[in-house]
Amino acid sequence: MKSLRSLPLSIRFVIPLAAALILLAYALVPLVERLTLRWFVRDLDMSSQMIASTLQEPLVELLERGDRARTNALFRRATKDERLFAIGYCDAGGKLLYRTPTFPESLKCPHGDAAKKHSYAVHQLPQGGVHVSSHPIDQEGTKAGSLVLVHDMSFIERRSADTRNYVIILFVVLGVVISLITVFVAHLSWRGWMEGMRAMLRGEGIVKPFIQQAPSSELQPLVGDLRTLLQTLDAERRFADDVTITWNPDSLRRLLQKELAGERIIVVSNREPYIHTRKEGRIEVTRPASGLVTAIEPVMRACSGTWIAHGGGSADRDIVDGRDRIAIPPEHPEYTLRRIWLTQEEEAGYYYGFANEGLWPLCHIAHVRPIFRSSDWQHYVAINQRFADAVVKEADSDNPVVLAQDYHFALLPEMVRRALPKATIITFWHIPWPNPESFGICPWREELLNGMLGSTILGFHTPFHCTNFIETVDRYLEARIEHESSTISRSGKLTLVENYPISIQWPTPWQDTQPSVDECRRKVIQSLGLAPDHLIGLGVDRQDYTKGILERFRAVENMLETHPEMIGRFTFIQIAAPTRSSLDDYQAFDVQVRNLAAHINQRFVKGAYQPICLKSEHHEPEEVNRYYRAADVCMVTSLHDGMNLVAKEFVAARDDERGVLVLSQFTGAAHELYEALIVNPYHIEQTADALYRGLTMPDIEQQDRMRSMRALVRDYNVFRWAGRMLLDAARIRQRERLAARIGSAE
Ligand code: F6P
Repeated sequence: MKSLRSLPLSIRFVIPLAAALILLAYALVPLVERLTLRWFVRDLDMSSQMIASTLQEPLVELLERGDRARTNALFRRATKDERLFAIGYCDAGGKLLYRTPTFPESLKCPHGDAAKKHSYAVHQLPQGGVHVSSHPIDQEGTKAGSLVLVHDMSFIERRSADTRNYVIILFVVLGVVISLITVFVAHLSWRGWMEGMRAMLRGEGIVKPFIQQAPSSELQPLVGDLRTLLQTLDAERRFADDVTITWNPDSLRRLLQKELAGERIIVVSNREPYIHTRKEGRIEVTRPASGLVTAIEPVMRACSGTWIAHGGGSADRDIVDGRDRIAIPPEHPEYTLRRIWLTQEEEAGYYYGFANEGLWPLCHIAHVRPIFRSSDWQHYVAINQRFADAVVKEADSDNPVVLAQDYHFALLPEMVRRALPKATIITFWHIPWPNPESFGICPWREELLNGMLGSTILGFHTPFHCTNFIETVDRYLEARIEHESSTISRSGKLTLVENYPISIQWPTPWQDTQPSVDECRRKVIQSLGLAPDHLIGLGVDRQDYTKGILERFRAVENMLETHPEMIGRFTFIQIAAPTRSSLDDYQAFDVQVRNLAAHINQRFVKGAYQPICLKSEHHEPEEVNRYYRAADVCMVTSLHDGMNLVAKEFVAARDDERGVLVLSQFTGAAHELYEALIVNPYHIEQTADALYRGLTMPDIEQQDRMRSMRALVRDYNVFRWAGRMLLDAARIRQRERLAARIGSAE
């Protein structure tokens, strides 16, 4: 059995097929022999009748004359035909009157009724089979006797033997031909099937990416079934993961060890997690106001590895090693930051220009027109290449796990893929993805899409952004899209487009060290010179036109108009971190924000009281956390936002289960935090009502809502976000390995 298994598959298949055909041939031979015998016997009979009718006349004449010698001569002449073996003539009484010497002794003359009609039979004689036919001879109208013709049948046996051999040879030849054709067809089908299997294992469904052709129709149901099975297994595994894994730094670390063989992670982002700046001769470390950094930093601390980012701080160069690296976090290093340097001109083109004047407004519906300049694009391409080269340099294997972050690096995935075809590249797009028409105005739309499709996994916050992206690819690129599995196949590469709602670290890093809610509140109230029972509203944002800060202020104004009893009792604190300040749109926005705050403050000023407290400066995360804990209501009113982690940070900060979140319906967070007061920020009155409702909400309702939101943020924390992407990546890697193995086993 084992030796049979060691034979090539094709031989293993041909042997039984050939054996079956030979057996069939042997089974058919007796049938063929019987058939041919019947034909020959019938032929012989016909020829006997012809001979008999030819002999009838001369024989009757000779019989009448009683010429024995000439009768014998006639018979001898007739038996010159090699098949006519013997002739005899019997009288009406069944007596043999004339015969050739070869006439077998054992043959009896027909008599009685048998002699009166033609008959024939096959006899077996010692020398072989003979065909004996009897033909009545009429003499003057009466049956005078019968002519008995004996035909030799040995030629039939010879021919039967030949026929048998021919049949067997025919079947053997047929067997070989059928086997070869079958093996050939099976080989082609097998290859197609294996190709399909490999494609499916890679997650391509039944797609053949290179030739854009589905497997043969007869294999399709099987491949389809297998694909469904794999998808079900995936879904079950995902579900099981969600149910069984408690996501925290340890579980993420374990996942890396187990599923990704301890692979070091390489993160690429524009913004660095720690910025070193020189102030009054000293180097200070700050953490930027960035949702991206908030999310990725705890993941990197759990996983370790290398984070490649733009070194934008004034002292960044001063403290890196010879290879532009520094171990961070500064107080307790857990991973490596590799800094990339940009000239001012490069930063102006790639970051301020293409990324923030082009892609940022392009992807956000905030009614600010994108600006696209060719010179910015050139810088964007060059800087993406620089970061991609750094990834390749930092990789210590040919299949590293790379996490590319955000709209600054749309081209990088394809660039890395070209250098490291086996890399697992997970790209996460932190901002919304627009509809195809909106995206279509970008002059380099195809290049951007193509660059992104270098990713193994492409993540967005919401299913809606995934759909927009897939539809955009469908509109502008030649690619094969499998909606069922949410995959895009292009130029032999496959990208899984999936939603992974980003989140924050749980519990917060300050869980054990932060001051109590009461203390936070007391401090904030004191710093503003307010009464202890003063109500506090809070907004925390980068000062960006997408954040709906103006709309929020108008809602505050409207609320004070409709509820004048709140004047003097309520203050809205807006923490607005300066951002992208060199851009015109941001400068103009800054002016608008300041003017509107001043206008509202003027309107409702009451002694030292002003309703809006605008803090346009950078705050470190711990400080922001204290404000979250002090607030009665937190307002997140983005006009359009991928996720908005401020909403989740506020929820995480409130371990007292108090505080109300007013949340824009245009944020990704609104798809998860249903217990927030969801508003349309463009609807000023509605937002004002929500603010008032939040300020006056009974404790018990606050608690119910906050408890439920906290459970969600706890379970769906950032470790789960990263873990889900890494698990998907691990599954894809596993399938690719299996596909490669199937390929080599062929
Ligand atoms: O929202 C997109 C994003 O990249 C966030 O991840 C981050 O909060 C913000 O933009 C950072 O902006 P910047 O790095 O330009 O200050």
